Amino acid sequence: MHLFFQGLFTKQAHKAIPDGCYEEEQGLKGFFGPVSHLIKRQPSTRWTKIDGPLRPHMFDPVKLSEKGGEGAQRLLYNANLNISLLWLQPKPEHRTRGFRNGDGDVLYFCHQGAGEVWSEYGMLKYRQGEYINIPKCLTHSLIPSEPSVFLAIENCTSHYEEPERGLVGRHALYDSAALGRPDLEAQNARVAETKAEVKEILVKRLDQITRFEYDAHYYDTLGWKGDLYPYTLHTDNIMPLMSHRAHLPPSAHTTFVARDFVVCTFLPRPLETDKDALKVPFYHQNIDYDEVLFYHAGDFFSRDNLHAGMMSLHPMGFPHGPHPKAMKSVANKTETNEVAVMIDSRWPLNIDPALESVELKDYWKSWRG
Ligand SMILES: [Fe+2]
Repeated sequence: MHLFFQGLFTKQAHKAIPDGCYEEEQGLKGFFGPVSHLIKRQPSTRWTKIDGPLRPHMFDPVKLSEKGGEGAQRLLYNANLNISLLWLQPKPEHRTRGFRNGDGDVLYFCHQGAGEVWSEYGMLKYRQGEYINIPKCLTHSLIPSEPSVFLAIENCTSHYEEPERGLVGRHALYDSAALGRPDLEAQNARVAETKAEVKEILVKRLDQITRFEYDAHYYDTLGWKGDLYPYTLHTDNIMPLMSHRAHLPPSAHTTFVARDFVVCTFLPRPLETDKDALKVPFYHQNIDYDEVLFYHAGDFFSRDNLHAGMMSLHPMGFPHGPHPKAMKSVANKTETNEVAVMIDSRWPLNIDPALESVELKDYWKSWRG
């Protein structure tokens, strides 16, 4: 369709929104398709009642791990994507077992803890705020040195790729030199020091586990070459893009791309400094995507009553945007201080009953100020 406009409109999205009005973006294909910006008297999040299954959700999934011990719990899922919580303790058993996922690549995000990942390619280290990317079928062992909580994002229909850097060039967002590569020598030294023997390999395929047993240590690689291997990326090594003049869409913060979803990382950054620039996320309907936001750390000023470890789900089909309190408090702010992971899914996500059990049921009311 061709560009058309009438009544009040702005010549630059997210800037010079008329006083006392609100801008709402309605767009297809995430932030890349046909889009319109509506100037409205009041935000569309001012609903007084919602009847029916479509609503914004807020969950406290890390509560599921607070029972202690170890475990894994599916949170959100569809045919392309599974988002789970995984919690592990430092235990010698982790140095006896490996895991291989035949259903897809797994991107672990370390919410809490620290430790090592052993693999046939060598050892990776992780700490809080680290992404660990394990391509499909690569055998690995997560070996916590501290109690660890991960968000595990399983990609069932493609492989994780880096985002297009376009105009800003291939060293923007994160430099490939900043990725953590597996270290075979360090792993062999650690195996010798701990006298570890990984002899049991658990393989997941079509969501069923098969157990392979070996009579000698499995990780016996003498060397390797190639461009397929597990790696890490720490949020400290992600350089967020920003414009001091106009708010950039969430897609500017894309970290990994899959066929049916993207993973974005929101990091602390200065706020826009132009007087007429919108400084909070704009109200929008990203019509084609279900949006999951995991609040990892910091001060989440665009939402009320939030703490680290919470997770929201804003399904496609209704507008969302900042809470009224954030609109007021942003006037005194010069920077954001939040670290959050967003998973934008092209296809609707189902909610696991276990996640529903830690839902904050009144979240839909929270835009009423
Ligand atoms: Fe959104």
